[in-house]
Amino acid sequence: MQLDIREARRDELETLFPLLLLAEPSASALRWGLKNLSDAVYRMDARGELVGAATMRWRRDPCEMLELAILRERQGEGLGKRFVAWLVAEARRRGQPEIIVGTSTTSAANIIFYQKCGFRADHVRHDYFWYYDEPVRENGLVVRDMLVFRLDLAAATQREEMMNDER
Ligand SMILES: CC(C)(COP(=O)(O)OP(=O)(O)OC[C@H]1O[C@@H](n2cnc3c(N)ncnc32)[C@H](O)[C@@H]1OP(=O)(O)O)[C@@H](O)C(=O)NCCC(=O)NCCS
Repeated sequence: MQLDIREARRDELETLFPLLLLAEPSASALRWGLKNLSDAVYRMDARGELVGAATMRWRRDPCEMLELAILRERQGEGLGKRFVAWLVAEARRRGQPEIIVGTSTTSAANIIFYQKCGFRADHVRHDYFWYYDEPVRENGLVVRDMLVFRLDLAAATQREEMMNDER
């Protein structure tokens, strides 16, 4: 499938906004984050159609994937994994030693997804989601804490090299 991932221009942010709301359902928190936390927004197009969006915080150690969303009707096709692989390659290109990403402890699907992308559970940010105006529920639980996953890029590179040596 022909996929194109690139950094979005500032004037494209409004187009990406509805997609990013899938990852951060609070519009005010998303706007605040786009202004104050993320330093790059990326878009993924499949055959010219917008299918995904992601935000990154590069100027922080470790760098962090803040939001990642695939169009609802295109989820489950491997696009999310391809997007993460691209962002991980970009992190490596920038010489980052590791990359982190967080999701609610209630998001069972995302917890599986990030591990499928090679991340390992690292720590919990308690009460991270304090800013929701009203309690948000997911899988019958109130969204409260964030589980942070980490990918050690040096270790991942070593593993890939070892696997290549074995071939
Ligand atoms: C999370 C999200 C980005 C995943 O993208 P996706 O394109 O649907 O996922 P993929 O098709 O690339 O799946 C990759 C792997 O994760 C697994 N996976 C994805 N969703 C899953 C689910 N709900 N349950 C179990 N496994 C799941 C897939 O089976 C696949 O496994 P494989 O590599 O063994 O084949 C997407 O579902 C999404 O946009 N969700 C809404 C926004 C969101 O919650 N973002 C993350 C929080 S910031």
